[in-house]
Amino acid sequence: MTMKPVAGQVAVVTGAGQGIGRAIALRLAQDGRRVVVVDNRPDPAQAVATEITQAGGEALAFTADVTSAADRQRLFDTVWSTYGQLDVLVNNAAIQRIALPLDVTEEHYDTVMNVNARAVFFCCQAALRLMLRQKSGRIINIASAAGKSSSTIYHPVYNVSKTAVISITKTFAHAVASEGILVNAICPGIVITPMQDLLDNEISRITGKEPAQVRRERLEKVPLGRAEQPEDVAGVVSFLAGPDASYMTGQAINVTGGMITY
Ligand SMILES: NC(=O)c1ccc[n+]([C@@H]2O[C@H](COP(=O)([O-])OP(=O)(O)OC[C@H]3O[C@@H](n4cnc5c(N)ncnc54)[C@H](O)[C@@H]3O)[C@@H](O)[C@H]2O)c1
Repeated sequence: MTMKPVAGQVAVVTGAGQGIGRAIALRLAQDGRRVVVVDNRPDPAQAVATEITQAGGEALAFTADVTSAADRQRLFDTVWSTYGQLDVLVNNAAIQRIALPLDVTEEHYDTVMNVNARAVFFCCQAALRLMLRQKSGRIINIASAAGKSSSTIYHPVYNVSKTAVISITKTFAHAVASEGILVNAICPGIVITPMQDLLDNEISRITGKEPAQVRRERLEKVPLGRAEQPEDVAGVVSFLAGPDASYMTGQAINVTGGMITY
């Protein structure tokens, strides 16, 4: 039996305190990586790091707001001083805000873009400065089907932010392709997480439909006929972070149960 090729690698996962980020952190740890579990809420980050260590893995909980330049600096400085390497960055942290397009305020626009797009850009930049030193690394940005299809009219700025994530992915992929670093994105569909609960509740508030009905109607559009689980996304992150994806960069991979085919 040989060692897994990724054993001992170091991965940073943002927004890893719950939902998809938690599943990604657990999966990358299960694959043999040391995982830095980043969230702006300390307790969930610590809980996920503890979950990993109790399962026999290695993890470090790190409290950081990805929108803060000082927090990002502290995060990547700590990664380098602690491990001396950074193999995988997963930009997963994001927020959801609901409003009809004509009701969006500038504050709403800036808040969503700040977390979902601006922070992704500058986390990529900070990570790449480390990865360029070692001439290796993988970045996986969690975009969304909403970035390709503007999936509902109820989260217009979220749609814009996720299209930006796809563009950030392609831009950095081309910028560092010759340096042995790969940058890809994943576009999930309707994943059962606290963010999805918020979405259904808020759409319910606007439409007057029950949250369960909102969810049912949305899930009816999924060809595979079931809701997506965080682990469905984590498995594709594992692939993109691993040796079998070594000829892929600049891609935005749909994991939507067939909802999006382009
Ligand atoms: N749930 C879905 O259906 C779905 C679909 C497509 C894409 N996505 C994307 O997947 C990712 C994860 O979504 P989720 O559903 O697990 O979300 P979630 O809201 O359940 O979890 C997001 C996590 O990010 C953290 N976070 C938020 N702002 C942060 C900040 N400024 N700094 C650090 N951490 C911060 C939160 O504390 C939370 O733990 C997001 O990028 C989201 O846009 C989700």
